[in-house]
Amino acid sequence: MNIDPEQIIIVGGIQEALSLITRLLVGSETSVAIESPCYQGAAYIFRAARAQITPVPVDKAGLDVDQLPEGPVSLIYVTPSHQYPLGSTLSLERRFKLLEWAWTSGAYIIEDDYDSDFRYRGSPLFALAGLDRHESVIYLGTFSKSIGAGIRVGYIVAPSALAEPLTTLKGLLNNGNPWLEQAVLAEFIANGGFNRHLRKIRLVYLRRQAALIAAIEAEFGEVDITGTDCGMHLVWTLPPGGITADMLCERALEKGVGIYPLEAGAASFTATDEQRQRMVMMGFPSVPEEQIREGIGILAGIARPHARSRSLPSGPFPIDFEI
Ligand SMILES: Cc1ncc(COP(=O)(O)O)c(C=O)c1O
Repeated sequence: MNIDPEQIIIVGGIQEALSLITRLLVGSETSVAIESPCYQGAAYIFRAARAQITPVPVDKAGLDVDQLPEGPVSLIYVTPSHQYPLGSTLSLERRFKLLEWAWTSGAYIIEDDYDSDFRYRGSPLFALAGLDRHESVIYLGTFSKSIGAGIRVGYIVAPSALAEPLTTLKGLLNNGNPWLEQAVLAEFIANGGFNRHLRKIRLVYLRRQAALIAAIEAEFGEVDITGTDCGMHLVWTLPPGGITADMLCERALEKGVGIYPLEAGAASFTATDEQRQRMVMMGFPSVPEEQIREGIGILAGIARPHARSRSLPSGPFPIDFEI
C-alpha cells in the first residue's frame, strides 16, 4: 500500500472514525449500504445522520456481493476480515467484486478492520485498501482489540481526497488525540514489543478458541460453529427446534456465563429471524480454558432439557412414542 503520512489520521478509536466520516460524507439524502446483520455502532451512526440505509445480506462467506445495490450508493460499511457479528471472512474473489462495484458505482468503502490482528488459520488476508486501485477505500484500524479498548487509539487511512477534510474535522472536534499514549505506542511498535505481544496473545487466544470448540463438541456432539479463522469471537448456530438463542443466553447469564444473541452482541436489527433465534456469539480471549469448560458444562445443563426429541423412523409398525 502506497500512502503518505498525511493520509493517516489518528483518532480515538474506530467509533470516532465512523463519526468523523459520517459528519463529512453523510446527510439525510445520502445512500449508505451496510452489512446485514451489521455492527450496531456503525448502523446507528448512519441512522442518526438520517442516511438512506440499504442492508446487504451476509452469509457464512461474508458479504453477499451479488446482492450489492444497483442504484447510486455513496458509502458501504464492511468488516471483511471477520464480519461483525457473524464472523465470516470475505474471500479474495468477493473482495475484488466489491472493489469493482465501488469503482463503477463511485461509492466509498469503509473497511472496518477491528480485529484482523488475530488471524489463526488460512493464508494472510489482503485488506481491501491494499487491493484498491482507485482510492475508494477508507481503512479503519484500532488498538482496542490488540491492546485494550481503554487506550482509545485508532487510525483512519484515508483516500487522498478525504485526508485534509477529515484532518480538519478531527481538529474541530478535539484538536487531536493526546500525545502521550501515541508516543508510548510508537515506541512499543518500534522496539518490537508490539509484535512480540501479538505473537504471544495470538497463541493464548488460539488455545482458548480450541478449548471452547472442543468443550462444545464434547457436550453437544456435532455442532455448527463458524467465524473461527480470525478474531475474538465465534458464532454457534443452535440446531432448529431446540432452545432459542435468547433463552439460552438469558439462562446462561443468570448462572454467570456470558454468551450473547446477535442483537445483544451489538448486531443491528437487520438480522434474519433464523440468525436472531439460533445464533449465539461467544467471546473467548479473556476466559481461561478451565473456566471455558466449566461454562460449557453449565450451558449443557441448561440446553439438554430443551433438546429436540428425536422421532424413530416410521417402520412397518406404527410407533407412537419418542426417544
Ligand atoms: C466491528 C467493530 N468495529 C468497531 C468497534 C469499535 O472500535 P473502537 O474501540 O476502536 O472504537 C468495535 C468494538 O467492539 C467493533 O466490534
